[in-house]
Amino acid sequence: MTETAPAINPYDGYRFLRDAQPIAKLDENGPWQVSRHSDVHQVLRDHQTFSSVVSTRPVEDRGEPTMLFSDPPVHQRLRKLVSVAFKPSHIERQAERIEARARQLVSAIPKGETIDLVNALAAPLPVMVIAEMLGVEDGDMATFKQWSDAIFSNIGEILFGTPSPEAEQAALEMNQYFLEQIANIRRAPQSHLLGRLVETTTDDGHLNDEELLSFCRLLLIAGNETTTGLITASAKIFHELPQTFDALQANPNLGPTFVEETLRYYSPFSATARRTTRDVTLSDVHIPKGELIIPLIASANRDDRVFDQPDVFCIDRDPNPHLALGFGIHFCLGAHLARLEGKIAVQVLTEQFKRIRLTEPEAAVMGGLGGPKSLPVVFT
Ligand code: HEM
Repeated sequence: MTETAPAINPYDGYRFLRDAQPIAKLDENGPWQVSRHSDVHQVLRDHQTFSSVVSTRPVEDRGEPTMLFSDPPVHQRLRKLVSVAFKPSHIERQAERIEARARQLVSAIPKGETIDLVNALAAPLPVMVIAEMLGVEDGDMATFKQWSDAIFSNIGEILFGTPSPEAEQAALEMNQYFLEQIANIRRAPQSHLLGRLVETTTDDGHLNDEELLSFCRLLLIAGNETTTGLITASAKIFHELPQTFDALQANPNLGPTFVEETLRYYSPFSATARRTTRDVTLSDVHIPKGELIIPLIASANRDDRVFDQPDVFCIDRDPNPHLALGFGIHFCLGAHLARLEGKIAVQVLTEQFKRIRLTEPEAAVMGGLGGPKSLPVVFT
């Protein structure tokens, strides 16, 4: 019989870092890990010192910049172009469609059988939502999801090294697909987000194909796995604290604070990256120019210097100054959408079922980027 090593809970490591080495360079050539709330907040806020252009690949190999990995003025221009589509009023208009999608997925879940919640709901829901924004037809949805998985699972390599052949192949295929879509839109305008972007005119003319492709890729990278992580985190909390499930059934108005607390407690975007543009002192630690910094968002969100009883899940925590959606100029563009999807997912689950139980709870480790790749659960 093979023995599997016990899963390591990243939150133990985060606590150790916050208390013993809040700004730590764990090996000589490695990045600096920043674990306290105040320091993570400062890194995210000060975009002049902590640049989002983290890649060290030659500029000509990086492709068009995306807003997530750029600094002003490039960042400002890219963000302004698309922000209108992400305004709360625009996103609210999608609520009915998202709810219909969620109900369709949840109604296919059998009671009393072990199913994978990632496959059944947590992964397809965000993919469907983004796909719809980009005008992907229902029939292309499965392929679209495969590309997004292949590209996202190699995000570290995309950022810091050479992408794997699988990721490159997926990116090529996806580019080809969207180039065709863009050409079709130019012939017959469309009202979805990609359609509107194709039409958008800026001071320097229309967005070119590369810029449009780069935006499609960004939405996939930033919006999929993270929202999947939010839904799996909610299920894990329902398993660990069944009283939260009862509370939501009795009072669905707790949905928004439940989602906020889930974002804090099991932050799906657990860490991000920055590079110093100058020598800087952060909480008395000297960091030279050009160093890679990893603000540990999931750790900041459990810091007892800011949160009372940070390891207790409090369904109506208020205030809740978590950093799960970032802070400053890169604050999550999809925040309203993510919150809406999270709220709808828990609402539909608590309406349809009496209980949810994880069948392998120890394997469902939270606190890493995204969340578990599968989550076996039984609904009753
Ligand atoms: C629970 C789900 C989500 C979480 C936890 C999350 C978290 C974050 C965080 C922490 C950042 C800032 C990263 C940094 O400063 O380096 C960010 C940025 C971003 N997010 Fe989200 N996100 C989620 C869902 C979404 C969705 C659904 C979309 C869009 C469909 C989206 C689009 C973006 C974009 C475009 C950015 C870059 C913004 C900029 O650079 O100005 N996110 N997100």
